[in-house]
Amino acid sequence: MSLEQAREWLQAAGSVVALTGAGISAESGIPTFRGDGGLWQNYRAEDLATPQAFARDPRLVWEWYNWRREIIAQAKPNPGHAALVRLEIAKPRFTLVTQNVDGLHDLAGSGRVLKLHGDIWRMRCTQCGSNWPDRRVPLPKLPPHCACGGLARPGVVWFGEALPEGMMQEAEHAVREAEVFLVVGTSAVVYPAASLIPLARQSGARVVEINVEATPYSEIAHCSLQGPAGEILPQLIP
Ligand code: OAD
Repeated sequence: MSLEQAREWLQAAGSVVALTGAGISAESGIPTFRGDGGLWQNYRAEDLATPQAFARDPRLVWEWYNWRREIIAQAKPNPGHAALVRLEIAKPRFTLVTQNVDGLHDLAGSGRVLKLHGDIWRMRCTQCGSNWPDRRVPLPKLPPHCACGGLARPGVVWFGEALPEGMMQEAEHAVREAEVFLVVGTSAVVYPAASLIPLARQSGARVVEINVEATPYSEIAHCSLQGPAGEILPQLIP
């Protein structure tokens, strides 16, 4: 199916959901997790992105997050992020669901973002549970602490943890109503986020995938567009 066809579906739709992954920020200079140069080629998720890893060595985990915060702090949204802002403005019903913790959708100007995996610019106290924004780069002291004296952790979701309460249900609700579902720059192997793709298909949405390579869901997408999100999305959403 062609890009022109996908553009027509989008133009006709009143209700659209977009699910984004690390690939949408790749052109902003933020490394993805899988594939060439992906973070999980050089680091083990078990050592850095699990509650067990944090319990074992909070300083090591924080050093890794501090390094990622430094990279992300230098990144700017790209034309892919900007296209999704245009789409939000144009559509009566639009929901942006992201697996990214980088905050680039916010910086681009997206109004409401369901951040399934949290936000690297927030912290949470492991003792009193409070959470707060912190954009300091680099962090002055590792590991950081809460005002109550408790150890702070990154405000992200780690492997084996539940997603923020109610967020997946909200995403699923939007997907069930969607006429077009865009899947952008995700390898679609991490659940439950990836389950939104078959749900969209079952619920009758046109599924349009944008990725530089094929994914497990390319086959079930109505339209699979291969190329960088920063180039394809502006063509899809002029
Ligand atoms: P991945 O790194 O798994 O996948 C990135 C996808 O983006 C791949 O399918 C690439 O082919 C594609 N890609 C790369 N550059 C692109 C570009 N310029 N335009 C379009 N696509 C491009 O990232 P995610 O699918 O987001 O979770 O990973 C999901 C989760 O796994 C992350 O949120 C993170 C990770 O471990 C946690 O840490 C819990």
